[in-house]
Amino acid sequence: MDNRPQWGTRAGFILAAVGSAVGLGNIWRFPYVAYDNGGGAFFLPYLFALLTAGIPLLILEFTLGHKYRGSAPLSLARLNKKAEWIGWWQVAISFVIACYYPVIIAWAMSYSVFSFNQNWGTDTAGFLIGEYLQVAAPGELGGLVPGVFIPLLIVWAITLGVLFKGVKKGIEMINRVCIPLLIVLFLIVVLRAVTLDGAAEGLNAFFTPDWSKIMDGKVWVAAYGQIFFSLSIAFAIMITYSSYLPKKSDITNNAFITGFGNSSFELLAGIGVFSALGFMAVQLNQPVSEVASSGVGLAFIVFPQIINEMPAFSGLFGFLFFASLVLAGLTSLISIVETFIAGIQDKFNVSRAKSVMIGGGLAALVSVLFATRGGLNFLDVADYFINNFGITLAGLVEVVAIAWIFRELKNLQSHANGISDMMLGTWWRICLGVITPVVLGYMMFDNIRTNLNPETYYGDGSYPLSFLVTSGWVVAGLAIVVGILFSLFKWEKQKLAVPDQKEVSK
Ligand code: ALA
Repeated sequence: MDNRPQWGTRAGFILAAVGSAVGLGNIWRFPYVAYDNGGGAFFLPYLFALLTAGIPLLILEFTLGHKYRGSAPLSLARLNKKAEWIGWWQVAISFVIACYYPVIIAWAMSYSVFSFNQNWGTDTAGFLIGEYLQVAAPGELGGLVPGVFIPLLIVWAITLGVLFKGVKKGIEMINRVCIPLLIVLFLIVVLRAVTLDGAAEGLNAFFTPDWSKIMDGKVWVAAYGQIFFSLSIAFAIMITYSSYLPKKSDITNNAFITGFGNSSFELLAGIGVFSALGFMAVQLNQPVSEVASSGVGLAFIVFPQIINEMPAFSGLFGFLFFASLVLAGLTSLISIVETFIAGIQDKFNVSRAKSVMIGGGLAALVSVLFATRGGLNFLDVADYFINNFGITLAGLVEVVAIAWIFRELKNLQSHANGISDMMLGTWWRICLGVITPVVLGYMMFDNIRTNLNPETYYGDGSYPLSFLVTSGWVVAGLAIVVGILFSLFKWEKQKLAVPDQKEVSK
């Protein structure tokens, strides 16, 4: 009998899964990815990726975790020993994300305080890049930035503290408090944004598709990347979280609730952000497409500008926006770090406390790199590459391996159907076995080609090639190497035995 920890209640699991999904991806990343990829044009590939890949993969990962009751590497190793490296690869991707993700939460913490006095002044870009982050040239480290380092320490103290407490008393508990709070705070932000003058202009820009962008592979990969990042799939999280489900649990319904919950939040965030952008466009008498520059600074450059322009209660609006980022980010960071804590615990048989100290401690240490003056450049490139050639590629490899190499989709479908209220039909296997590999495979190929071409690679020339190679390609490649290396360590005897499923059926 395994003594794996379990969620206390079904609601506790759903809140934790939603807490993981709803994160910086929804509020910080979504607007700039949407902007970089044609604004409204992004909407269609996004919906397509959600319905044909996002939700089906979420169901797949919930099923894997529930059936094999292990961290991503253990669950995949139990499915087939040859699949274990994919689990470690995904864990390694999570590790990379865990190194830069908390830094953005740290910025948001600072900015929630800055909101009250609008310390950023009128030149918000100059403030972010110059005064606050003191950004150095790409590739240079520069010194530590205390304004980032101190909140970063707080972020890690909370995260590791929660993880020490364990699944039920730590992770479940914090999500029970933070997620309802986040929803209330963020609803206030969005309600205020849509009632601003000019909101309609922004919403028009958000919802009007630009058909000319539809055939661009880069836009599609970005849409898949955004869906995977935002739903916390293909980087080990949802497999790990569902491994703590009791045997008698519903899979498919839980996945739909989590998936739609997350996308509703993202849509809400899109509506809020674009309404606010519309407001700013009207204030500045410019088209919406002109008011926002693309890039990771969008939330930290344009939002402060919007806050400056607000007619009343601007400090409070700013605080609520950045506090929402902090809450959403923390609950996601916890899930990201949990993937390698669980992986280390399963494979090396160490206690949770030790695993938190080793895994969490190492990620915290590496994250300091992103709190230096060179941090923003490293973060921008690492985020782009780990999403496009980490998560998205790992998602593609995961579905192709399970559907076509190990041919396990039917077995997993009957496992899910055996315990869920809602039955999975053939559509599920078609989405995972055919649509996702074909569309994502082609788009990935196109995207790799684009990124290998010096005229079209990432950053539009703002980064030297050598920097893209070392901080982008090498990081994404190393995740694969680490994945393979970790899968070479031997498991303890008996560990790979598939847990008893007899009690499972209803
Ligand atoms: N799913 C998390 C987010 O959206 C990682 O930020």
